[in-house]
Amino acid sequence: MSPNVPKVETELRAESAKKIESAKVSKVIVPVSAAAGEHIIIHGGRPLEGTVTISGAKNAVLKMMAAALLTSDICVLRNVPNLTDVHIMAEMLRYLGAKVEIEGSEVTIDARELTEFEAPYELVSQMRATFNVLGPLLARAGQAKVSLPGGCAIGERRIDLHERGLKMLGAEINIEHGYVLASANRLIGSRIYLDKPSNGATENIMLAAVLAEGQTIIENAAQDPEIINLADFVNAIGGKVAGAGTYQIVIDGVSQADLHGATVDTIPDRLEAGTFMMAVMATQGEITLEGVNPHHLYAVIGKMADIGAEVSMYAPSTMKIKMRERARATDVTTLPYPAFPTDLQAPIMAVLAAASGTSIVTENIYENRFMQVGELRRMGAEIALTGNSTAVVKGVDRLTGAEVKSSDLRAAASLVIAGLAAQGVTEVTGLQHLDRGYENLEAKFLGLGADIYRR
Ligand code: EPU
Repeated sequence: MSPNVPKVETELRAESAKKIESAKVSKVIVPVSAAAGEHIIIHGGRPLEGTVTISGAKNAVLKMMAAALLTSDICVLRNVPNLTDVHIMAEMLRYLGAKVEIEGSEVTIDARELTEFEAPYELVSQMRATFNVLGPLLARAGQAKVSLPGGCAIGERRIDLHERGLKMLGAEINIEHGYVLASANRLIGSRIYLDKPSNGATENIMLAAVLAEGQTIIENAAQDPEIINLADFVNAIGGKVAGAGTYQIVIDGVSQADLHGATVDTIPDRLEAGTFMMAVMATQGEITLEGVNPHHLYAVIGKMADIGAEVSMYAPSTMKIKMRERARATDVTTLPYPAFPTDLQAPIMAVLAAASGTSIVTENIYENRFMQVGELRRMGAEIALTGNSTAVVKGVDRLTGAEVKSSDLRAAASLVIAGLAAQGVTEVTGLQHLDRGYENLEAKFLGLGADIYRR
């Protein structure tokens, strides 16, 4: 033992060693994120030029990984991005007894044997999408105990619609000691109306209904492309889902023996694509996006035209964005898909912060999604908030580099975009948020000519 180590630290280390030792006999849950102390340094002001390839969609792949629990056969997901969240979901599935292998952009899930039916707090608190194992576990095993995700930095994030939908399928649901306890001898199809088109509720109910007796109809379902990808996955493994991508999804229940393995591609990440689109509008320049689906981005493309970008689409998966003038102000309102996505609200604010004129940004999905505002102000932005849902953004001539801290994934993206456009040096911290949802972001910006690195 080093004589310089204070006693209290020595004790803490001994305690950790003991924990690691005991974890060898029980199940260990290791936090996957490691980027908390790192920084991204950006020397701003360079126009972006070149081509970037878009990765697979985080918000699609996480749900398909959870859905693989439905079948006692092997599933392969392709075009999977290397993200912290994907690794956390892999940990979740392994905890339940599935074998998960990640090789490059391919994930293989073998859920033939499940040994646990509980999603513990330690995993759900690291990433709320692990809550999506509730529906498949309940359907497959007739029971599930899943930690309540609680609120997060951006909002309250209730789960009442998940709960109500599963109850309508005949499940008994109790909330006890921070956990949802769900059980059902058998689930029975039902007609379920969602008060809001929640993605998570649509997914959990859809996945539970795959093995229910009879037909389930979800009315006012979320219509996002990630829901279509999930329905395609379910159909590929032998389920029967129709109408995904519309407000009404019809699921005809099948038996577990009807389900089998499949190989399914993950759709391109429209939010990553949108982030690059915002970046080129903020910095000016001309970029080509490869591996993108322009049909998922119409609301965003509409706003880009208002702001002054020229967008060309080349079927089936290429877009070119040219921006040769200062961005113009425009108003933005977030609403469920196909409207402008809440996940690009913070990124577009970084563009509007230095646009000519004043923009009104209205956030309708989350109660607290303007966390980037205080940091953008540190970079010289003039943004006034009225309540939780409206920001008045008065474009300044130029943002100036500063040290800024991200509070959630999309706020982090907003600060990187602002840094790329700003005069001088920007240092972004809180990168554990960024790494949850962007694969190789700095490397991709570097490839487009930005002066950016991590340390
Ligand atoms: N809501 C309820 N009750 C419910 C469920 C949701 O009131 O039972 C509310 C939420 O509080 C929220 C709104 O409805 O205000 C939308 O929630 P939704 O269920 O649609 O969101 P989610 O499934 O929890 C996914 C994405 C989010 C994205 C939202 C909205 C994943 C893993 N997450 O969350 O992505 O913002 O849909 O599109 O798919 C991100 O990628 O940065 C991110 C936060």
